[in-house]
Amino acid sequence: METLKRTVTCGALTKADAGRTVTLNGWVNRKRDHGGISFINLRDRYGTTQVVVDADAPESLKAIANELKSEYCVAIEGTVRARPDSMVNPDMATGQIEVVASNLVVLTKCDVLPFQIDDETDAKEDLRLRYRYLDLRSGGMQRRIKLRNDVAFAVREHMIGQGFYEIETPTFIKSTPEGARDYLVPSRLYPGKFYALPQSPQLYKQILMVSGFDKYFQIARCYRDEDARGDRQPEFTQIDIEMSFVGRDDVLTMVEGLMGHVFRKTMGIELPATFKRLTYDDALELYGTDKPDLRFGMEMRDFEPYVAASTFQAFKDALAAGAAEREANAAKGVTIQGGGVKALVVPGKADYSRKQIEELEAAARIYRAKGMAWMKVAAGPDGKPVLEGGASKFFAGNASEIIAGLGAEVGDLILLVADAKRRVANVSLGAVRTKLGRDLGLCDPKRFEFAWIIDFPMFEWNDDEQKWDTAHHMFTWPQEKYHPTLESDPGSVKGDLYDLVLNGFELASGSIRIHDPVLQKRIFKIVGFDEAEGEKKFGFLTEAFKYGAPPHGGIAPGLDRLVMLMAGETSIKEVIAFPKNSFAVSPMDDCPNEVDQKQLDELHLSIRYPEK
Ligand code: AMO
Repeated sequence: METLKRTVTCGALTKADAGRTVTLNGWVNRKRDHGGISFINLRDRYGTTQVVVDADAPESLKAIANELKSEYCVAIEGTVRARPDSMVNPDMATGQIEVVASNLVVLTKCDVLPFQIDDETDAKEDLRLRYRYLDLRSGGMQRRIKLRNDVAFAVREHMIGQGFYEIETPTFIKSTPEGARDYLVPSRLYPGKFYALPQSPQLYKQILMVSGFDKYFQIARCYRDEDARGDRQPEFTQIDIEMSFVGRDDVLTMVEGLMGHVFRKTMGIELPATFKRLTYDDALELYGTDKPDLRFGMEMRDFEPYVAASTFQAFKDALAAGAAEREANAAKGVTIQGGGVKALVVPGKADYSRKQIEELEAAARIYRAKGMAWMKVAAGPDGKPVLEGGASKFFAGNASEIIAGLGAEVGDLILLVADAKRRVANVSLGAVRTKLGRDLGLCDPKRFEFAWIIDFPMFEWNDDEQKWDTAHHMFTWPQEKYHPTLESDPGSVKGDLYDLVLNGFELASGSIRIHDPVLQKRIFKIVGFDEAEGEKKFGFLTEAFKYGAPPHGGIAPGLDRLVMLMAGETSIKEVIAFPKNSFAVSPMDDCPNEVDQKQLDELHLSIRYPEK
């Protein structure tokens, strides 16, 4: 490659270069022939340049130009020529010039393409992943991979600038229970033993705090054997962070600074200096989710005050059942929420058809709502708003109170969900809100609405097993004011847990950790975690904590999700060079694959296939 090695890239030339002799290397993006002249649009990572093989070019050159096809990899030598004003392409960085070819070499040919390489291809996902190397040539993928690079660089720049060390932690670790299933790596040297791939560097980063590395971060690969979704991959990347001698607000402020730097540096966007904070309880009551999309309002309202005066027996029954359940649990010393009736006012959508309302109801049913009632606000004979249709007949007695209380106006649609479990009412109507946000085009991908969700419950009541579980992980610090009542009233305890949400996605999750072995034992006991078992599984962490563990806390924003949202995408596959498909398979290299018997023998493994 010494003869026609590039002297410039395809995104560099301007009018000022007119007259220069240059060499370009790249791929044939498009080629068209026009009155004996060939126009070759040549592409590389940096842009595209128009190359011209003139009508009076030597026949040998024209013959090569004639043979060129899309995606041939070529080298071109030529002279830069300013385009006449009428031919200038203002949409192209190099649109003021073209290169008149004097030499043309085909470096390699290209087979028939499985799909056209456009800025954004419409090829099916599995085909894109099967030929990912081609898919990655598209303008969209090139821009997103660049953005990912820029974001990772900005993260390192900011964190190291703030005095953090990037420290690598092992990717062969001891299998410890976390949220998902582990990926396991069999040991050749120790038959029957396995390494696990880390679900996150959680325990190691806490141990680094014990070692005095009080500001740690790592752009870390994590592995979780769970079902893939748009925002989930079996292997993904976290910006993992841990700090010593800090409280919750120190961590939140640090992340606000980090996000501010990343958005400013990579997109020129100035974020607010601090992000909105919402308690977990408020997030659930207002938006029915702990990851609300705050690009639009449409907050849910409490509808219980209007139930007693109505004749709607279904709502009354739900509240009565909720109250009974609450009382029965209270007798066992377990605090749970009762029932709930929630309302969502959809502005201007009284014209929704029955079918449209049924589609919304289907979204609520996914989250266990037994149904969704609705009514419309119409103009009465005197022009005043009245309730109409659906469940309105049950609220004839208190319609004006409802309309005023909900702040509804003529032309609005009111949606209602009641359930004996308040959480079900909240979450299912919240799902309807989320669907409406999408359906009504309220989610502008160019807006970035961050919010902190704080004050998460520390424990969750496990109805099936009739016991308390930790809501996050067992190393979360219960907020200090609850320490005296941990055992007597676990249901009220809030943990020092926080999530960062962005546009309806959980971007980051973290907590202040327990550094006190005595408190740790109390938590193990409340969730019925056997101490000997705990010792076996995380003994190394609890042992480390005996040697002067500092108070510490941290967080981990998902890098893939961050870049996905910055790029305005809804799947993290769009920002990962080589992702797996929804079946955890890489169609390009056919991974996972079977291995030789010899490899299995060396690993002391035999395969038991599931019965068909
Ligand atoms: P958590 O499990 O909430 O917390 O993960 C933190 C963030 O990592 C991202 N994430 C994922 N991204 C893509 N695919 C996945 N399968 C996936 N799972 C998680 C999300 C999520 O918010 N050790 C704790 C953090 C801490 O407490 O410091 C942890 O891993 O963006």
